Amino acid sequence: MTSEVEQKPRRTVILSAAKDLYSPFGPDTYEQLQRSFAALRMTESGSETLYTLFSRCDMFDGNRRLQVMRIFVGLFVFLGWAGFVFGAEGPAAPTGLRCEYLSNPMGIDVQKPRFSWVLHHTERAQMQTAYQILIAGSTEGLGRDEGDVWDSGKVDSSDSTQVIYAGKGLSSGRTYYWKVRYWDTAGSASPYSASAQFEMGLLSREDWKGQWIEGNLLRKEIDLEGRIVRARAYVTALGYYELRINGEKVGRNVLDPAFTTYPKRVLYTTYDVTRRLRGGKNALGVMLGGGWATLGRRFFDPEVGPYYKAPALLLQVNIEFEGGKTVSVASDGSWKATQGPIVSDSVYDGEVYDARREQPGWDQPGFDDSAWSATQTVEGSKGVLSAQMMPPIRVVDSMVPRSIASPRPGVFVFDMGQNMSGWVQLRVQGPAGTQVTLRFAELVYPDGMINRENLGEAKSRDVYTLKGQGEETYEPRFTYHGFRYVEVTGFPGTPSLDSLRGRVVHTAVGAAGSFVASKQILNDIQRLIHWSQLTNLFSIPTDCDQRNERQGWMGDAQATAEEAMMNFDMAAFYANFIRDIRDAQFPDGSLPDTVPRKYGGVPGDLGWQTAYPLLCWTMWQQYGDRRILEENYDALKKYVAFLRSHAQDNVYRLHWEGDWVELAHTPGDYIGDVWYYYDVTLFAKMAQILGKSDEAASYGQLAGQVKDALNRTFFDAHTDNYANGTQTANAMALALDLVPKEHREAVQRSLTDDIVYGHNTHLTTGFIGVKFLMPLLTSLGRSDLAYDLAVQTTYPSWGYMVERGATTLWELWQDKVGPAMNSHDHIMFGSVGAWFYNALGGINLGPESVGYQHIRIAPQIVEDLDWASASVETIRGTVSLSWNHSSGVITLDVTVPVNSDAEVVVPPEVQMTDVVIREGDRVVWENGRYVSGDPGVEAATQDGKKVVFHVGSGTYSFRLTGGE
Ligand code: BGC
Repeated sequence: MTSEVEQKPRRTVILSAAKDLYSPFGPDTYEQLQRSFAALRMTESGSETLYTLFSRCDMFDGNRRLQVMRIFVGLFVFLGWAGFVFGAEGPAAPTGLRCEYLSNPMGIDVQKPRFSWVLHHTERAQMQTAYQILIAGSTEGLGRDEGDVWDSGKVDSSDSTQVIYAGKGLSSGRTYYWKVRYWDTAGSASPYSASAQFEMGLLSREDWKGQWIEGNLLRKEIDLEGRIVRARAYVTALGYYELRINGEKVGRNVLDPAFTTYPKRVLYTTYDVTRRLRGGKNALGVMLGGGWATLGRRFFDPEVGPYYKAPALLLQVNIEFEGGKTVSVASDGSWKATQGPIVSDSVYDGEVYDARREQPGWDQPGFDDSAWSATQTVEGSKGVLSAQMMPPIRVVDSMVPRSIASPRPGVFVFDMGQNMSGWVQLRVQGPAGTQVTLRFAELVYPDGMINRENLGEAKSRDVYTLKGQGEETYEPRFTYHGFRYVEVTGFPGTPSLDSLRGRVVHTAVGAAGSFVASKQILNDIQRLIHWSQLTNLFSIPTDCDQRNERQGWMGDAQATAEEAMMNFDMAAFYANFIRDIRDAQFPDGSLPDTVPRKYGGVPGDLGWQTAYPLLCWTMWQQYGDRRILEENYDALKKYVAFLRSHAQDNVYRLHWEGDWVELAHTPGDYIGDVWYYYDVTLFAKMAQILGKSDEAASYGQLAGQVKDALNRTFFDAHTDNYANGTQTANAMALALDLVPKEHREAVQRSLTDDIVYGHNTHLTTGFIGVKFLMPLLTSLGRSDLAYDLAVQTTYPSWGYMVERGATTLWELWQDKVGPAMNSHDHIMFGSVGAWFYNALGGINLGPESVGYQHIRIAPQIVEDLDWASASVETIRGTVSLSWNHSSGVITLDVTVPVNSDAEVVVPPEVQMTDVVIREGDRVVWENGRYVSGDPGVEAATQDGKKVVFHVGSGTYSFRLTGGE
């Protein structure tokens, strides 16, 4: 049984979480602390910064960490209060300055970067009427309000996102400083924002002076004369690298660079190393791992072997001295190489590390490397070198194990309490040569031993050989695991909970959304989605994180993109992945199942290939990214041409996965054909958006023909079913508006009858069908039924996973633990997360709107739910809704960002007559009519039993009451 959460609207959650932290009865364990903080984190975006700060306090354990945390929260609450009390009237300085979706990016290679900012104002219903951007080559210049690189002047425009740079040419390697101000509805100017910056990467191939070099451990000493004023390292590898300068690791990225189709494109990272280098002797040291570049394992596609035999490095350090002299140090044949302590490394199999082979001082100047050999220069990748413009993979948190057991003598099994991605840090003391083996698993057998049957061929283990010098700390560099349990064998003595720390690793995307509701099972599912999503972000969206796959399966990616974008700040990540998809396109326009292509069918199943148009479309919808549509238009057109060339009489029949992991089989040719229709429809819309009306018309026409052919082929007008009448079959047809009008109601009935009577309110879909089904039910006015499915706890359901102890979503609806395919951390069923935000949380894009310019707040107040609270950091700022329903009263607390507006749909209380709606203290609806006068509330209309308010930006508190 799950307990219901007490009623706690958003602000109260923050306050009570803060109170919890201070109270003498507050959290005294790390876990409780994390939980309190999770509540904070889930409700207030600002707390994310604090959270990040807090999670960096790895050096503190227990109470110390608690104290630090308390100070942070205190500061947060104080600053919030001070801002509230002392804040000035009118338009406030813009915040949240982004360049190419990133804040203060270092190393971008876009000649015309795009900017966005978030607006604030003390009054409601405020828009931006004009803006001015200043970009300067120095902070001093910007301080004097001199935009020597670009002064946009006052531009009369409401654009506060996707604003394209229009200044002079930007130079390789230079840093630019920028700020922005805006004019509000009344024409008053805001103060300028705080200054932000962006830095260009190396813009042309000629800027690269080095060569690719191979080796395991690489070093180079350099002698620098003069005072260094600026130094940048540009680094990439075929595989993974760790760069060290003068004995210290540079930056906090791990498993860098991103997994790409290396022969076509390699991504480099830019680091500011000014303070790492000094006049005189310096040492550069690099460790290399194979990563995805050398991984030879394949699935069933013999063509995709390892990209390269050995990992390789490409590096360049550009140094500027006082007086203007510049020096470049690059990877080349003058570097020295040797075999380091990493004996072997593999993404799937783990790392073998022999600490006895460490060579202390190897990454410091003055080290005797006479025994090292010269490095081999190799051809490396001839592909494009692009800047890595997305959040890096990082260790984002440390976890204290929950428990430790010893099911057999000498075998210790640690339980992290959470299925996670990453590795563990081992602390150990013992004689030299002792070998400690760490094996990772998602599951345990009833006797407490780890169950690794579902890992496929992944060995997923790290082996550490001690050097025997006091306490030794080890964590691997070039692998990762998906696990909840860690088996430790060979440990000298008995390990304690302090012998291991879980290191949570994934692409470090920021949080964007929170969703909490009064029904606990929903919060549990949300927690599983959160974890499954994050643990499947490793520079590409992966299917799973544990077995020998971890691939960019495109079907999984398209199914969960909306959910991911509501929960996390995903824009830069998907922008990168879309380019990866383009890189993987075959000459005939088709796409593989996985990107970069390693596994899967060729061409991919359409539910997988369709990730290309769908992700472009979702970027357009969520972020208003027109450039994505422009850049991919031609390649998408080729893709549609491929589909067309394989369709016979306008029916596309190629298929492979269909509705993957389904319970009732839906014919794959039908599903493939629906995707064909969907893709053509989207493409026609894109053509329209880009002003290509002729193409829009001809693809629109094609879509019509495909639809007719589909109905002729797959619709049975006698039984009112599509294909074989499964939930997936009928849901897809209804969701994409394929059903002839006169049959709509009947097909709807086929669908809902199948759910309710055919399957006792359970799903039979796989992950393809369910993505359509949930929002469809809401659009049919059956949120009640969608809700019943969402909170279901018997098999098959999300709640069933929770009840069975899952801490991440499973690959299958079934609870399987054997050797077959059954990952316990797949994100693909997580698409329901988008439905949480849209339906229960009420946050939607306005009709025909993109990027949250127009918002539709329309909570589905289902009977069993007392309240729900959702908030999303959109590209235009915070959109949030907390609603509360008790007998005769509905309240809605709404936030609409400046420069946006919203329709707020207040649903009726059942059987309510004489409804009165107040906003704050004012009546805004009475006697069936809108009452004007409340600032920001511009109009209201009745839509059936609902009242729809049109509001400008600001925060509103609606309260509906009425006699029964
Ligand atoms: C992956 C899935 C993927 C599927 C398609 C599986 O092995 O884990 O998530 O979409 O294959 O074939």
